[in-house]
Amino acid sequence: MNVFKMFSKEAMKNNYNMTSFWLGMDHYTVVVEPNLFELFSKECLEKTRFAKFARSLIGNGSIFAPVDIWRPKRKHLAPTFSTKNLNNFCNIFSQQSLILVERLQSTLTSEKFSMWPFITTYTMDSVCETVLGIQIHAQTDKEQPFLKALNEYLTVGSSRIFKPWLYIKAIYKLHPDSQILRRTKKTIWEFVSNIIEKKREDIKRTKSKEASSGVESTESFLDLLLESADGVKFTNHYLIEEMLVLLLAGTDTSAVGAGFTCVMLSKYPDVQMKVYEERPILHTDLPKLKYLHAVVKETLRLYPPVPIIGRAVEKDVLLLILSIWGMHHNPKLWGDDVESFIPERFLNGSVPSGAFAPFSDTNTP
Ligand code: HEM
Repeated sequence: MNVFKMFSKEAMKNNYNMTSFWLGMDHYTVVVEPNLFELFSKECLEKTRFAKFARSLIGNGSIFAPVDIWRPKRKHLAPTFSTKNLNNFCNIFSQQSLILVERLQSTLTSEKFSMWPFITTYTMDSVCETVLGIQIHAQTDKEQPFLKALNEYLTVGSSRIFKPWLYIKAIYKLHPDSQILRRTKKTIWEFVSNIIEKKREDIKRTKSKEASSGVESTESFLDLLLESADGVKFTNHYLIEEMLVLLLAGTDTSAVGAGFTCVMLSKYPDVQMKVYEERPILHTDLPKLKYLHAVVKETLRLYPPVPIIGRAVEKDVLLLILSIWGMHHNPKLWGDDVESFIPERFLNGSVPSGAFAPFSDTNTP
């Protein structure tokens, strides 16, 4: 990441708000200006080589798929993110939060501790339950085989990005990492495939039960996709890819966001107190938590969980790095206090237009 930070800073300094660099055989242009960011993120949808690495695990899963495959898949996935569906997940978040709070009790006597293992297992449990509708108990069972395989896959797979000599498939095939990826991928796919099989059977059974009892259970993303208009058409292969997209896109991003928010709260006790005073009673109170919202946004500005997005123009002729981090840290946009943690900037209307895009959308509310 330091490399991308360095080039983002270089781009901020010059008049064009852009710079470029070589990575292996690829020449990248770095963008840190809101208008260019919006233009390129909307017009250039094809992903770069980094996405191709992810394809070895998630195949043509929507997020990293070539545009012609991504477009129809996105249409299927988008409605499952409705506010109503997301609100239904609040019970899951609150139950998993209670487990997290209990686990954090063990840290009360320590002066310093790392939030990361607590938060990542919390988000893994929450995401697995909301995506697949199953509890994997990552918070309490470190040896869970799916979790171990996924962590191993991601660690080994991502280490390839900065080793351009391993970009050549023939060489990588001979590398020991390839074997690890094959082994762990098998575990991951079999795990998700079994859940889908079981879910198809469950849906058939519970449909008739729920109809007679009138009781509705929380529906996971998998339930929602299977029950959508096109649900019966989806093959297991298609669903495994989409489920893995959600698991990968949702787990570490949320953990980085939640983790840094905790760090900020511990660094700024006055901010923590204001958040505490606003605390919710019911999940319907969530929209009223204006200050917490500003704190989360300010954290996502300073520490965007997805700091850069890679895009390709005209079949890889021009490669772009849309630097979310660079745009969030650009003093030309935010002023001289750009590096300070000031949640109030999200309450007093001083956010520069289009310059806040933690989810890649320059119109993030
Ligand atoms: C703080 C948390 C999160 C951040 C900062 C974040 C950020 C992003 C960004 C920057 C993109 C655009 C990537 C690109 O264009 O290459 C993206 C896409 C996506 N994210 Fe997230 N994300 C977060 C949480 C989640 C969660 C919890 C889920 C689901 C469980 C999720 C699912 C997705 C999906 C499916 C896409 C692809 C959308 C598409 O294909 O158009 N994200 N996210």
